Amino acid sequence: MGDRNAPIGIFDSGFGGLTVARAVMDQLPDEDIVYVGDSARSPYGELPVGQVREYALECLDHLVDQGVKMLVIACNSASAAVLADARERYAVPVVEVIRPAARRAAAVTRTGRIGVICTRATATSGAYADALAVPPGVRLTTAACPRFVDFVEAGVTGGPALLEVAHDHLAPVLAAEVDTLILGCTHYPLLTGVISYVLGEGVTLVSSAEECGQQAWAALLEADLLAEGTGPASHRFFTTGAPEQFSELGRRLVGDWIDRVEQLA
Ligand code: DGL
Repeated sequence: MGDRNAPIGIFDSGFGGLTVARAVMDQLPDEDIVYVGDSARSPYGELPVGQVREYALECLDHLVDQGVKMLVIACNSASAAVLADARERYAVPVVEVIRPAARRAAAVTRTGRIGVICTRATATSGAYADALAVPPGVRLTTAACPRFVDFVEAGVTGGPALLEVAHDHLAPVLAAEVDTLILGCTHYPLLTGVISYVLGEGVTLVSSAEECGQQAWAALLEADLLAEGTGPASHRFFTTGAPEQFSELGRRLVGDWIDRVEQLA
């Protein structure tokens, strides 16, 4: 049996996965976390799937070497590329972002018209269509929104330039009259304001970050791995990029609970 008081390992291509880390912390406040953001090699969303797979497995190996009790793949592009391999490769439970969000979207849609916005890598993989197994009566519209990641990485979550790009990127899902939209990239929960402004109140947004947090809770319970809550949780953050930049942008976008960020060689 795994060690209940070992940390949860969370991995993303950069700091977008901090939206998942935050959801995990909200739902599992007693859990220690080790976070790895592969900022030096992001964005993954523009890379070929084989490359994403190689980088993602390297980072996940690193987390497993640190003795984590569960892996959370907090990146849609990486989830699409490695989920099947990761479940075979590691002895610890592996949770990812795609299936939980797909299940929620299928449960909440009223009209059966679901949209997913994501990186090019995720769109090309067809992972959301597979996860939804598009049942009769459900129509999935996928739109790659590559420029959204650039805005978030630049710390921009509002303003006229972003609004213009949002109108452009969201045109296919607007035209498809979706009633439910999956934010299929871990950066996008930071753009909820502009996305819901463009789509209007009739469209329910499903955050892959929030759904993944709930899935992490259930997976720990099922594996009998929930922490015993013996003291304040500790969190460590590693990046392959520049630690100061990671911490500055991370704090600005998701909050000052990110303290020291360490360099991962
Ligand atoms: N974290 C990635 C995802 O969820 C987006 C950023 C990237 O392209 O690396 O797909």
